[in-house]
Amino acid sequence: MPDALNITVVDHPLVQHKMTHLRNKDTPVAHFRNLIREISLLLCYEITRDLPLTTRHIETPVAPMEAPILKGKKICFVSILRAGNGLLDGMLDLMPSARVGHIGLYRDPDTLVAVEYYYKVPQDIGDRLTIVVDPMLATANSAIAAVQRLKDGGAKNIKFLSLVASPEGVKAFNEAHPDVATYTGALDSHLNEYGYIVPGLGDAGDRIFGTK
Ligand code: PRP
Ligand code: URA
Repeated sequence: MPDALNITVVDHPLVQHKMTHLRNKDTPVAHFRNLIREISLLLCYEITRDLPLTTRHIETPVAPMEAPILKGKKICFVSILRAGNGLLDGMLDLMPSARVGHIGLYRDPDTLVAVEYYYKVPQDIGDRLTIVVDPMLATANSAIAAVQRLKDGGAKNIKFLSLVASPEGVKAFNEAHPDVATYTGALDSHLNEYGYIVPGLGDAGDRIFGTK
């Protein structure tokens, strides 16, 4: 029997509903951006579910209490350029003090190999929970390269978030980085001969930025 794919699919009804509008080829750019912002906020809620808490002494108008509060707050979102930037706004709505890193990668259209052109992350990345974001996990070449680059740069505690993933990509990513917890809004059917996710949503970068 093949190994089970190790990925959390966030199939909340609101995510599924918004994903349907996102996938629709007739959805205009402005609406597409708003939807990505809303979905990424919902996915951020789920991916941060196990953040550690401590308590702080406060007084409500009625009584003193030991109230839960995030411990440490050391988070860094890393966007895989350029489409990853579409996810940042919603995530920063929820966690406005998070630090942000960028890794520039493009997929060579012939070989589908990820080619790096930019890298800038916080110096203390090794002390932070690092959440790497990219809407599409297709072959996973980009995600695998980005996570390897972050590990080489000192990141130790890494999670990966996509909007849509392919089974082929999840399998490859699990094999390359078994220590990285992976989340997605939808796990689709397969990759086509051009390395596009089916049914997917098309080219995420082009749809976010209106470049096609
Ligand atoms: C897209 C997407 C991912 C990558 C996924 O980026 O945003 O980064 O493809 O494909 P993979 O899993 O097969 O590597 P693209 O290379 O088109 O660049 P862009 O974000 O600049 O449009
Ligand atoms: N990149 C995209 O933007 N979409 C896909 O389906 C695959 C890679």
